[in-house]
Amino acid sequence: MSQDVQAKKPVIFSGVQPSGRITLGNYIGAIRNFALLDQEYDCLYCVVDLHALTVRQVPAELRRQTLELTALYIASGLDPQRNIIYCQSHVPQHAELAWILNCFTYMGELGRMTQFKDKSAQHKDNINAGLFTYPALMAADILLYQTNLVPVGADQKQHIEITRDIAQRMNSLYGDLFVVPEPYIPKATARIMSLSDPSKKMSKSDEDENATITLLDKPEDVRRKLRRAVTDSDASIRFDEEQKPGVSNLLTILSACSGKSVDALVQEMEGQGYGVLKDRTAEAINETFAPIQAEFHRLIKDKEYLTGVLRENAGRAQALAARTLRKVYKKLGLYQL
Ligand code: TRP
Repeated sequence: MSQDVQAKKPVIFSGVQPSGRITLGNYIGAIRNFALLDQEYDCLYCVVDLHALTVRQVPAELRRQTLELTALYIASGLDPQRNIIYCQSHVPQHAELAWILNCFTYMGELGRMTQFKDKSAQHKDNINAGLFTYPALMAADILLYQTNLVPVGADQKQHIEITRDIAQRMNSLYGDLFVVPEPYIPKATARIMSLSDPSKKMSKSDEDENATITLLDKPEDVRRKLRRAVTDSDASIRFDEEQKPGVSNLLTILSACSGKSVDALVQEMEGQGYGVLKDRTAEAINETFAPIQAEFHRLIKDKEYLTGVLRENAGRAQALAARTLRKVYKKLGLYQL
């Protein structure tokens, strides 16, 4: 048998919290491209519900959002047979490995995490130990599957760094336990900025709901938000991120949704007002979202199907996770039956 046939594909692991919604920025910058990866990589897409518990959740909402995120992944083009789309709490090895990693992670390292500092400032009444040790659970997510690449935004780079540090630390103590993962930054994807303040990234946690387009926004909401998008008073449609960040952001979105180049769009709209740019951008977003939303609404009614996907994929994930966990327990000296 040739090497190629035997060679294992590299592993990609991605985790998203079932809180908030998926934004246009997440879709264009990440999820849209994920469907193309399953040829070259073994991909796991995990709904990280245990991480969500680090801030207070309404139980019924958490349940609903877990199913919604699963449906959105599938509706966005990820095939649940070619990819492992599953829920973190269905694979007990995540919490088990997290405990072990906690014992190899220093208080000082955790205290330096900017997400911990930010979230403790936001939730002063609930600075819990889970929030503090969040990175150890995230490291467990990644290391359990011998992950090579982790697609993340800039805000999560520090968590990948600490994951690497923990992996290297344990590898040097016990021999090769873990693959040391790298962040995966998809090439040349557009950065989508807030519609209200185009100097900031579009974020699902933005308090201003007009700043963010989410994948399940209705067409009339998209039109309204676009009409309110901040531009400038210069009234010429040009791409210039420094001088004209709002207009440039709209051009980036329109280009990403229509498939036309920014240059071609600028030429087409020469001499026209911002109203035209905004309307065209809204329509292009709505056309991009329409098939995804239709599929989402079909899937979300089929709870049995979604539950089946989660059950089956939890089994596939468990088989992989159990292998790593067993090796870790054994190497660390936990008595084996
Ligand atoms: N911390 C990530 C976020 O807030 C979510 C996450 C949890 C994650 N586990 C992960 C991302 C593992 C990548 C890999 O966005």
